[in-house]
Amino acid sequence: MQSNSDAQTNVILAELDNKIQFVYEVAFAKRELTGLGANVTPKLEDTIRFELRPPFNISTDEMVKRLAHFRSVGDKKTEYTKLVAMNQKASDNQYLTHWYYPYKGKYHPRLVRSIFNIINVKYGQKVLDPFLGSGTTALESYLFGLDFIGFDISPVCVLVGKVKVTAGEVAGQLPLFKKEAIKSMKQDVLKNAKETKKYAKLVDDDGESVYQDFLGKIDDERITNFYQLAQLIFASDRGRRSRDFEAFEKNIDNMIASASNLAEAEKMLKKDRKLYEGRINKGDARSLKSVRNESVDAIITSPPYSIALNYMFNDRHALEELGVDIVDLSGNVIGVAGKGAQKIKQYEKDMEAAYSEMYRVLKKGHQCVIVVGEAKVDGEQTQTVEDAIKYCESIGFRLKENLPKIIFGLYNTIKDERVLFFEK
Ligand SMILES: C[S@@+](CC[C@H](N)C(=O)[O-])C[C@H]1O[C@@H](n2cnc3c(N)ncnc32)[C@H](O)[C@@H]1O
Repeated sequence: MQSNSDAQTNVILAELDNKIQFVYEVAFAKRELTGLGANVTPKLEDTIRFELRPPFNISTDEMVKRLAHFRSVGDKKTEYTKLVAMNQKASDNQYLTHWYYPYKGKYHPRLVRSIFNIINVKYGQKVLDPFLGSGTTALESYLFGLDFIGFDISPVCVLVGKVKVTAGEVAGQLPLFKKEAIKSMKQDVLKNAKETKKYAKLVDDDGESVYQDFLGKIDDERITNFYQLAQLIFASDRGRRSRDFEAFEKNIDNMIASASNLAEAEKMLKKDRKLYEGRINKGDARSLKSVRNESVDAIITSPPYSIALNYMFNDRHALEELGVDIVDLSGNVIGVAGKGAQKIKQYEKDMEAAYSEMYRVLKKGHQCVIVVGEAKVDGEQTQTVEDAIKYCESIGFRLKENLPKIIFGLYNTIKDERVLFFEK
């Protein structure tokens, strides 16, 4: 039998990250530990630590590598704490290249990493996000050593996702193009300023743009994408926030610094495991033709809340810059078409098609995690969460958990957000 003192020495403390402040985050933190098989009790007297006791079904090193909500396990700093410190911005949610492009409606990177642990995905497994958005799941999967496939209907999102993951590989070459990028962008801005008082597009309607010519001369797609994204960030900053040319220069410096941080992170991570660049493509979540039946190990996604947030409107400057026909695109963006009750009906139909596709491509016994919220449309409260559960259960998913999540900054439109864990 174990004596009391043995039991004492066998206890390992896992300490929460000091940015954790919400009760729901503590719930996710605890589930990460149990998801990985740890035998855990909260250490109630100080609230920021959990006691881990034998039997230890997972090694301390493995917890150090995987955990998202903790800054240390025993006396070791977690990998995530080191990654989040590689940050050119103030917020943990913007570390490394996560901040690239001012996208509305992202979920938090830490949440995604904690879900990897809650459902206990293994290195090298294939994760799908059919509603890629700004690519949060893509970058988190990459850093974690997961294979990834992602789709979004918006070409802006596809570009953002790609650059977030690949910028590190070309970090050393990016500064070589900076001078030329700034010079050609300045020429476009000056030309446009002469023609139109207020900023319109950088690429004019004749398709003439010195910056576009500059992009055309780069022969590495990852670098072209990087500088193309810099253009879109600038277009968005100018259009939405009235920023002037200096913002472009400053952003490029910040973007390059973050790309170097990513390169540094890759170096650290590659010592331990293989990193997968993944596949990010334009696609429609209602019809994932290129994905085979039962070929995906996990799905982590947050569907459009376009009924509350009009993505097309938020991204219009960037979409115009890419020459996208916004009316045409909107026809396929879930949640945008129609008005009032008709709009909600169409949204439900489209989401049912998307959930059916998720079910089809997921392997049996594996999990699909959906972050979804209730919104108000024309003053009416929707039942998105309830509808999602009902439909998913009707096609064969089993709801394992339904966890509440607090939503920040969108209190007026999205009232309640849930993280739904379904098993096939
Ligand atoms: C809530 S956002 C995803 C946000 C993402 N989790 C992030 O952290 O950035 C939903 C996304 O779904 C995309 N979308 C809308 N309709 C779509 C469709 N039919 N197929 C694929 N993506 C679609 C939108 O363009 C938007 O980027």
